[in-house]
Amino acid sequence: MSADLCSCCDGEKLMIPMPNPPIGRQINGQHRHRIGVSIRPGRATRLRSADMNAAPFDRISADSIDTVSVDGALTTTRAVRQRLDLTRPVDQQILLDCIDIAEQAPTGGNQGSRRWLVVRDQGHKDRLAELYMASAGAWMIETRDRLAGSGHRSEKVMTSAAYLAEHLAEVPAIVIPTIIGRHDGSGRPGLFDSVIQAAWSFCVALRARGLGTAWTTAILNNEDDVASLLGIPDSMTQIAMLPVAWTVGPEFSSAPRYPARAVTYFDGFGRIYDDGPSSPPCLADGPGTVVERDIRASVDDVWRAVTDISMPAAYSSEFVGARWVGHDDPAAVTPTVGSAFVGANTHEARGEWEVTCFVSHYEPKRTFGWVTSDVDNPGARWRFDLEPIAGSVRVRFMMNLGPGPSGITEVIASRPELEQRILDRRLSEHRSNMIRVLDGLNESLVTAVD
Ligand SMILES: Cc1cc2nc3c(=O)[nH]c(=O)nc-3n(C[C@H](O)[C@H](O)[C@H](O)COP(=O)(O)O)c2cc1C
Repeated sequence: MSADLCSCCDGEKLMIPMPNPPIGRQINGQHRHRIGVSIRPGRATRLRSADMNAAPFDRISADSIDTVSVDGALTTTRAVRQRLDLTRPVDQQILLDCIDIAEQAPTGGNQGSRRWLVVRDQGHKDRLAELYMASAGAWMIETRDRLAGSGHRSEKVMTSAAYLAEHLAEVPAIVIPTIIGRHDGSGRPGLFDSVIQAAWSFCVALRARGLGTAWTTAILNNEDDVASLLGIPDSMTQIAMLPVAWTVGPEFSSAPRYPARAVTYFDGFGRIYDDGPSSPPCLADGPGTVVERDIRASVDDVWRAVTDISMPAAYSSEFVGARWVGHDDPAAVTPTVGSAFVGANTHEARGEWEVTCFVSHYEPKRTFGWVTSDVDNPGARWRFDLEPIAGSVRVRFMMNLGPGPSGITEVIASRPELEQRILDRRLSEHRSNMIRVLDGLNESLVTAVD
């Protein structure tokens, strides 16, 4: 395909005579072009890189942005490896189009310091494939083979990752975003913060055009070798390696992710709400708190600990202990949803009290939750979620107040004008105890491993 043909539609289909097509607007209701894309061979509207000061895209109104398409592209830009079409060439103009879009991303100090390397030379790709294989590819292949047929949660991703490692040299183009400067490793916002968003825009722009890539960083273990292969100066930082190809088939799905409610904290780290929050927040919003720790222990050990209903008593300043209803020996109990236990508590203001709890979630090695007082209208909801991550288990300990009555309801009823303050205080007490529990658990389990 000629570089002067439309790269997003493979040329031929767009060979429609169009006098002075509007640059950067929709053409034929389908193709968006901007300066830099020649619609027909011979058109000389391309803005060269020297024209840096011109605004390369039209000014557009939010009203004309099609959120279905934008959200669709954003939610289905997947790590594409096995569905990279290794047989179909990728025109450089489509890469440049996507880089033009990516360059619109924010950049610290408004300084355009990103530089993009497009690797198409077969010798270079062969060498990059070797370096990728040495950095992680061989491990990916070994892991894929080991996990084959096991049903392990990483089996699919490893099959895909190993495939890329085995076929990297066949990918039509490998794009390496870089940025001027060396990251200082301070952990403060720095160089990465001016390039990652641009590199991701590049990935989404590819997706919108029917191409795909996978965000890969494993080769950065061999950053020096990549630099010497491609002549990248020491003063530059490489960010990722993006193998680019047309995708085999245009359809991709969104991935399972936490819902926004679970990972969005309002006005304080860890603060969650079932609804709202209202202004000011109130008990009816279902306020709660989340604490997380990555615990370096086996999922079996962590699961055993979190399903021991008395475990938190070892660390909490309020929770004293618990017993299963109808069982004297806790070891003999295999809980199911609906199993009941009685928890004992003590608090300097409230004294001592007991509350009956009911198991609400029981998914072995994954989720253990319970509600207090009333299954249908609980006073509070508590839950441990376990997620295996490399070498550790991420434990997410979460609680929400309400919607039913509990001790806090009476306190609020006595001073309704202080509802927000009462809630803040109560949640902060719960949070402190939850932190103690996870820190204590971490210490005891990690010590057991070491
Ligand atoms: C920081 C980072 C580094 C990654 N490095 C690699 C890599 O070296 N090789 C690879 O095949 N995938 C890599 N990935 C891709 C992830 O494995 C991918 O996002 C994951 O499989 C989930 O797929 P999805 O994005 O389609 O949901 C990386 C992703 C991120 C965010």
